[in-house]
Amino acid sequence: MKYIKILLFFITINLSAQQGGMWIPSLLNGMNEDEMTSLGSKLTAKDIYDVNNSSLKDAVCHFNGGCTSEVISPQGLILTNHHCGFSSIQSHSSLENDYLKNGFWAMSLDEELPNDGLYVEFIVSIHDVTKEILANITDDMTEKDKQSVITKTSNGIMKNWTREPWQDVKIKSFYKGNQYFLFVTERFEDIRLVGAPPTSIGKFGSDTDNWVFPRHTGDFSIFRIYADANNHPAKFSKYNKPYTPKHFLPISLDGIEEGDFSMVFGFPGTTNEYLPAVAIEHITKNYNPTNIAIREAALKVIDTEMKKSDAVRIKYASKQARIANAWKKWKGENLGIEKSNAVEKRRAFEETFTKALKEKGLTDKYGSILTEFDSLYKDFAPIDIKRRNFIEVFITTNELMQMTYRAYQFEQAITANPENLEKAKAGITNTLKGIHKDFDAGVDKGVFINVMPLYGKHADPSIYNNTAFTNLDNALKIFEGDAKDIIKKLNKDAAYQYAKPMIDEFNNTTNPEYQQKNETITALQTKYMTALMEALPNARYFPDANSTLRVTYGQVRGYSPRDAVYYNAISYLDGVIEKYIPGDYEFDVPQKLRDLYAAKDYGQYVDKNGKVPVCFLGTNHTTGGNSGSPALDAYGNLVGLNFDRVWEGTMSDMYYDPEICRNIMVDLRYVLFIIDKYAGATNLINEMTLVHPKK
Ligand code: ARG
Ligand code: GLU
Repeated sequence: MKYIKILLFFITINLSAQQGGMWIPSLLNGMNEDEMTSLGSKLTAKDIYDVNNSSLKDAVCHFNGGCTSEVISPQGLILTNHHCGFSSIQSHSSLENDYLKNGFWAMSLDEELPNDGLYVEFIVSIHDVTKEILANITDDMTEKDKQSVITKTSNGIMKNWTREPWQDVKIKSFYKGNQYFLFVTERFEDIRLVGAPPTSIGKFGSDTDNWVFPRHTGDFSIFRIYADANNHPAKFSKYNKPYTPKHFLPISLDGIEEGDFSMVFGFPGTTNEYLPAVAIEHITKNYNPTNIAIREAALKVIDTEMKKSDAVRIKYASKQARIANAWKKWKGENLGIEKSNAVEKRRAFEETFTKALKEKGLTDKYGSILTEFDSLYKDFAPIDIKRRNFIEVFITTNELMQMTYRAYQFEQAITANPENLEKAKAGITNTLKGIHKDFDAGVDKGVFINVMPLYGKHADPSIYNNTAFTNLDNALKIFEGDAKDIIKKLNKDAAYQYAKPMIDEFNNTTNPEYQQKNETITALQTKYMTALMEALPNARYFPDANSTLRVTYGQVRGYSPRDAVYYNAISYLDGVIEKYIPGDYEFDVPQKLRDLYAAKDYGQYVDKNGKVPVCFLGTNHTTGGNSGSPALDAYGNLVGLNFDRVWEGTMSDMYYDPEICRNIMVDLRYVLFIIDKYAGATNLINEMTLVHPKK
C-alpha cells in the first residue's frame, strides 16, 4: 500500500509538471504530443494542426480580436461566450426589445442580426520566419535600430508572401523577440447574432461570482459566419450565405469526468511568465492597487445607478462589465501572488539562474541583468503608475474626460495637418456619437466626482453644467466651422479648460517618459529570455501569450483553495437553484428554468448521475482572450466553453501553479440544454453533430 502511495505521488507530480504553458499549434510534435498522450489524449499533433488537410485549428477563430469562438455546424454556426457577444447583444437591445434581459433567439436565418464592425479570423497556416527576420540584426545595434530593421524586414516578407487575394498575413514576435512566426489569415466580416440566453443565465452570478468557483453561469452566445458566393470573406451583404467551414466540432453528449484529458484551443491575449521578482512586486504592491481604487470609485456610482433605472442599466451594461472584470481580476491576482509566495519563489529561481550562469561561464555576458532590472524598475515604477492612472481616468472610467481627450487629439491633428480637417471632423463626430449612445450625464458626473481625486485633482462638478460635451448636439456644434473657429470654441469650453493641462502633461511628459523607459525594460527582458534559455536549456519554455492561436492542455480537476476545503470539478443545475434569489439582479433565475428543474425535464443533457452539469474546472493554462475557446476531449470533440479562471489562480498570467490554477468552462450539455429545452431553438440543435465517444 505504501509503495502504491509513493508511486501515485510520483505519477501526480510528474503529470502536474507537464501542465501549464500555451503552445504553438504548429510545433506540437515531440514533447507536447507526448505530454498530451500521457495525460490521456488520443489526438496526434496532425489532428490539431495540419496545413494540407482540415484539422481542429480550422474550427477555431479569433472573435473580434479579443475572444475566441469555434465552428459547431456545417453552416458556419459559431459559439462564443455571452460576455464576448455582450456588446453586440447590448447594441441590439432597447427598452422594447430587451435582449439583455430576455435573451434572443433567431428561429430562422432571416431573423439573424448583423453586427457592424464585428469580425472573426481563422489561421490558415503558420510559418517560422525567425532566420529571415534576424538575418540583418547584429549585437552592436541600438535597440531602436534593431526594431526599425525588424519592422522593415518583416514588412518586406509580408509584402512578398504568396497568398490568395482574400487572405492576409501578419508576423508576430515570440519569446520576447527571440523567435518570429508569420500567420496567413482569413477574416470574415459578416457575423450575425443567432442566439443569446437572458443575462440571468448568461451572466448568472454577475460580479459576485465572476472569477470564482463554484460557478453556475451559462456564459455562451451564438453567431453565424456569412461568406460570399465563393465561400470567401466578404463585407455584410444580404446576398451573403452561411459559411461552409473546413472543419466544425462535433459535440460530445458524454461530457467529462474528473481526471479526463482536457485541451483548450484559442487566442490567449497577454501573459508575463518570465518577469523578474522585482516586476511582480511592482505590479502587485503598487501598480494594481492604484488602478483597483480608481475602478472601485467608478463602480460605486455605476452599480448604484444601474440598479435604479432600466435605461441606465442597458446603457452601462457593457461598460460596467469591462470595468468590473479587470477590477476584480487584479484583486484576485494580488491575493494569489501573495498566498503562493510567488515573489519569494521567483527570487529563489533567480538564484538558480545566477548559479547556472556561473557554471556555464556566462556571468560576464548576462550576470548584470537582475541588478539592472532592480534599478530600472525603481525608476520606471512611478511613471508606469502615473500613465496607467491617466488611462484609467481619461479612457476607461470617465466619459466627459474621454471626450476632452479625443477633442485634444483632434486639436493636435488639425494643428499639425490642417488639410485633414474634414477627415478629423468625421472622426470626432463618430467618436462623440459613439460615446453619447450609452452616456448618462448624471452617472458620469458621479464617476467624475469619485475618480478625479484619485488622480490627484480637485473635481469641480459645476463643469457638468458649463460644458457643451454633456449634450451631443451641443458637442457636435463645437466642431462646426473652420479650424480657427473650432479651436477657439473648444478652448472656451469649461471641461476642456479643466482637462487640457492634465492631457498636456500626459502627452508631453508622462507618456514619452514612459515609452522611453519601457523600451529599455523590454530590451532587457529580451536579453533575460535569451539568457534563461542559454543558462537553463532543459527547462520547459513556452512563449508568452500574444493574441496568437495556442494550445493548452491538462486534466479535469478540482482543487483545494485552503485548508480542509476542496472544490469539486463539476457544478450542477442544483447549484443554480441553490443560489436563486428572487428578483435579485445577480442571482435571479428565469421561471422557465425553474420549471424545467422542478419537472426534471432535462432531455439527453445529463451526467451519469442524472443531473445537468453546468460548469467544470481544468488545469488548462488560459488567460484573457481564451474566453469562448473550445474545451476539447481526448478525441477532439467539444465538451466545454472556456470562460474564466478561479479566484486563487488568476495570478497565472505571471506565475502558473498547477496545484491551484484552474480554468472554468461551461459544460456543453448545459449550453445544449438551454438552447433546446429552455429556448426551444431546436433549429440550431439540428444543425449540430452530437456524438457519444465514450460508448
Ligand atoms: N472573468 C471572465 C473574463 O475575464 C468573465 C467576465 C464576464 N463576466 C462578468 N461577470 N463580467 O472575461
Ligand atoms: N474571461 C476571460 C476572457 O476574456 C477569460 C478568462 C481568463 O482571463 O482566464 O477572456
